[in-house]
Amino acid sequence: MNTESNVSERYAEGAIEVQESLCCPVDYDAALLKILPKEIVDKDYGCGDPSRYVREGDTVLDLGSGGGKICYMAAQLVGEKGMVIGIDMTDEMLTLARKYQQEMADKLGGDRVQFYKGYIQDLALDLTAREAYLASNDSLDQKAVTLWEEEQKQFSPLIKDATVDIVVSNCVLNLVDEKHRTQMIAEIFRVLKPGGRVAISDIVSDEVVPQHLKEDTELWSGCISGAFQEQHFAQVFLDAGFANVTYDKWDEKPWQIVEGIEFRSVTVTANKPVTGKKDKGHTVIYRGPFAKLKNDQGLVFPRGIRIAVSIEEYSQLQDSPARQSFLFIAPEVAVQFEADLDNNRERAAAENKGLSHLSGDAGENKNSGCC
Ligand SMILES: C[S@@+](CC[C@H](N)C(=O)[O-])C[C@H]1O[C@@H](n2cnc3c(N)ncnc32)[C@H](O)[C@@H]1O
Repeated sequence: MNTESNVSERYAEGAIEVQESLCCPVDYDAALLKILPKEIVDKDYGCGDPSRYVREGDTVLDLGSGGGKICYMAAQLVGEKGMVIGIDMTDEMLTLARKYQQEMADKLGGDRVQFYKGYIQDLALDLTAREAYLASNDSLDQKAVTLWEEEQKQFSPLIKDATVDIVVSNCVLNLVDEKHRTQMIAEIFRVLKPGGRVAISDIVSDEVVPQHLKEDTELWSGCISGAFQEQHFAQVFLDAGFANVTYDKWDEKPWQIVEGIEFRSVTVTANKPVTGKKDKGHTVIYRGPFAKLKNDQGLVFPRGIRIAVSIEEYSQLQDSPARQSFLFIAPEVAVQFEADLDNNRERAAAENKGLSHLSGDAGENKNSGCC
């Protein structure tokens, strides 16, 4: 049996009857659970709460959406201008999630959640369309199917490039076959808009998981032996080109211990890097307490030094967990320096003040009075 069939079989059972062994206690936002059907809350197989990173207006993609709990929570946060897409490969889970779609649309005042059948490692492939194609064509060889898949992915991808604001996932990446993982992270990167975010709650192991545990199908489908090794989890996002990769939550207490190896829940957040390099006068100062900070793109922020950043870098830093460590100085008049930023990013204080002179405030103390 391959990994997908093993995992799908286990979660098909979990969609029909609650599987206690698959439940990991999670502290969800009770206010968001209030309007969810009890069956959805009971059939929870998550290990964290990525919904808390969702914002108003977001297009959200939930990988391995299961019964739809995170999707229906996110739908309350995105509001009427946002939308939520759940992807899952297991029919029974999709049936469970869709069972409450109308009820939830009525409660939310809009049908802003869709569930699609797909593999999270191949987000362009539309499994429902593929099944329809196979059913309507009797004698197909593998070559014909592959050709159809390539065309479908190219001309009508299930999830298009750069269309998603945030990819979330709750306890699913560890279930994917190791041979598909590089492609899975590349797919997350592909579908995100530049500057888009990821919030992935998953299980990590503190040590490398030995082969005999990985071959245990029960442990694999139980979200244990497929866990990423803790260091490796951040590294796969960095290798795919993500920025601001952060272990935003790291459970001290392990969820399970098998053969002395601890398996615990973490939530990793990251951004698809922004591409802008134009200097429009934005400056940041790293406050400390360390001598300097270096980001994943190699940009160094020495303590107390004004560093020029593009507007895109500026907003991404304001958005990142590192924001508390920085002072942010926006130009009062936008578009001053149209040059591309190079590696020499030090900004003279006079440049920041110059912008203020141009706005006609020279010499005035806007906040006159007390210091
Ligand atoms: C542990 S459950 C988590 C479900 C849901 N995220 C939650 O919080 O309850 C894993 C879900 O991911 C789905 N899944 C696992 N591997 C998948 C894959 N490669 N592609 C799509 N869905 C997958 C399973 O069908 C199952 O519904």
